[in-house]
Amino acid sequence: MKNILITGGAGFIGAHVVRLFVTNYPKYHIYNLDALTYAGNLENIADISDAPNYTFVKGNIKDIDFINTLFQEHKFDGVIHLAAESHVDRSITNPNDFIETNVLGTANLLNAFRDLWKDNFEDKLFYHVSTDEVYGSLGKTGLFTETTSYDPQSPYAASKAASDHVVRSFGNTYKLPFVISNCSNNYGANQFPEKLIPLFIHNIRTGKNLPVYGDGNYTRDWLFVEDHAKAIDLIFHKGKLADTYNIGGFNEWTNLNLIKVLCEQMDIKLNQPEGTSAKLITFVKDRAGHDKRYAIDATKLNKELGWKPSVTFEEGLSKTIDWYLKNEQWLNNVTSGAYKDYYKEMYE
Ligand code: NAD
Ligand code: TYD
Repeated sequence: MKNILITGGAGFIGAHVVRLFVTNYPKYHIYNLDALTYAGNLENIADISDAPNYTFVKGNIKDIDFINTLFQEHKFDGVIHLAAESHVDRSITNPNDFIETNVLGTANLLNAFRDLWKDNFEDKLFYHVSTDEVYGSLGKTGLFTETTSYDPQSPYAASKAASDHVVRSFGNTYKLPFVISNCSNNYGANQFPEKLIPLFIHNIRTGKNLPVYGDGNYTRDWLFVEDHAKAIDLIFHKGKLADTYNIGGFNEWTNLNLIKVLCEQMDIKLNQPEGTSAKLITFVKDRAGHDKRYAIDATKLNKELGWKPSVTFEEGLSKTIDWYLKNEQWLNNVTSGAYKDYYKEMYE
């Protein structure tokens, strides 16, 4: 039996990764460590919470003593680190939260992992889940590859870039076995409705405006979250040590074009006249330092490990909208804050 620590498993991507590992690897015991910040919601993984190979641990990666004790107690063979402050807009208002969790929190995990195994790292792995935003912003052409220089532009991106560097430095200095992946924008079930797609679905559902930053002429490369989780599984098991993999959907959209498609699909699914949702589009003040374009070249992951996205954007978006419409209660709980009651009863 291997003990695997997944951090941030009550969040959006983490919940999908936890579910995949708990379900597909009964020989692993999965520990899900999460501080349950505003973005963490145990409802996201309620379906697997009773699995015999699963344990939830409420705790903060910023707490050094707690982290050290946890590692000594459970002797984690592997760590898949997703816990982070993840929203660019919040990083603009509160940059220090991002430095503390994303940089110092990651360093705490690395120190604890190193102290646990000292020089005997055989069959051990620290997997850092990161973002394409570390590479900065692209012009009209070109793609981010694994060798693109880091050039982070937002406090969020800078904190993730710094944590990537700290991970690599532990690999170089202490021979700590690691792998890093840098992924493009994810979408799918359970994403907190502050990010573009779930926010706009929620706003259309409740008849609120759709705030498009600036002229909406910004480009992102969208990947269905379950395809990200599958890539993480593949890289965790087959990735080369001390290597980096870019993960992306080969799926670029300007915000405005994406919003138009989303509005069209919402009109159909809500049985309302064509153009109803699009009437809610409202151009608002641009985000400070808004990155123009992200686009990932995921050729290496495809060539070396055989990964490719399993759904088209139309399919993924349709599944995503269906999930939010079916899980109205989840959206209501998350937007009202009522989801906090769910774990209060269980863990506080
Ligand atoms: P999220 O905000 O939905 O979830 C983050 C989780 O981490 C939450 O459950 C939260 O409670 C937990 N957390 C936050 N601070 C913590 C702390 N100090 N201690 C313990 N737990 C803490 O984020 P997400 O979108 O699921 O992103 C997960 C990871 O993937 C992040 O590292 C992010 O940088 C990376 N990533 C995200 C995207 C994306 O599009 N969302 C793309 C590429 C990479
Ligand atoms: P977001 O989902 O916050 O992801 P990221 O900033 O990490 O790419 O935003 C995606 C794009 O949508 C980004 O260009 C900012 C834009 N955006 C809006 O125009 N309006 C919004 O309300 C939000 C949340 C984002």
